[in-house]
Amino acid sequence: MSRTALRLAAASLAGAAVLVTAGTGGMAATAGTGSHAQGADFTVHAEGANLTAYAAGGAHLPFRDGPPARVTGGFGEDSCFACHWDGTENDEVGTLTIAGFPEHFQASVTYDLEITLTHPELEVAGFQLAIRRAEDGVQAGHLEVAEGEEERVRILTDREIDFAHHLVPGIEPTGEQATRWRLRWVAPEAPEGNVLLHASVVAGDGDHSQMGDAVYTIELESRPR
Ligand code: HEC
Repeated sequence: MSRTALRLAAASLAGAAVLVTAGTGGMAATAGTGSHAQGADFTVHAEGANLTAYAAGGAHLPFRDGPPARVTGGFGEDSCFACHWDGTENDEVGTLTIAGFPEHFQASVTYDLEITLTHPELEVAGFQLAIRRAEDGVQAGHLEVAEGEEERVRILTDREIDFAHHLVPGIEPTGEQATRWRLRWVAPEAPEGNVLLHASVVAGDGDHSQMGDAVYTIELESRPR
């Protein structure tokens, strides 16, 4: 699989947003049937792609409460494009922005993050986000659900990495062809080097399938002060 990693400077200044408009990607064919938003079982067939555990042997995996862990597109992981491969990836008609992620972070400080996604065909949408040490992919600080987002966002900790992702109610857009999710990042107590934020999102057409959806993937870097 080859995906152009988007390496963008972290948004500077509080609340500044970064626009993703570039990136192309292609990967070996993968196909899936079934559901995670709806909760039915599903099977994935991979052809030569580096699909990970969720593709193993056509295991039945109910994704009632969001995507499987480790599909942020960072550290060699797949992105949502692994299954939502039928639409576009980082197409310029849409935008993915992450506000509030600092260029320089301070130890133990809590940062309010807001993920915003726009796309002309957005009827439903979902995301996954993780923040890890750039050097070795170890969890950097931790993620928390923002106040008022308890029904829409969850933090799934998988093998010591926090993955924030949408819950079923969080699929409903908050605007016209646009949506946002809020969460908090508590920076590490004793920062060791730069950290990387990875997020992969789906702007879905609302047909209850993984087909015809647009995927956006972003990488942002932040340095300790
Ligand atoms: C292992 C395969 C797989 C991965 C990886 C995956 N999805 Fe899905 N997703 C599906 C399937 C299958 C469906 C269709 C069934 C459904 O809607 O429940 C779906 C449906 C959706 C829908 C509803 C789409 C619509 O048009 O109705 C959203 C939103 C979504 N996924 C978000 C995501 C996000 C965000 C990611 C990455 C962080 C992701 N998915 C990764 C398999 C996957």
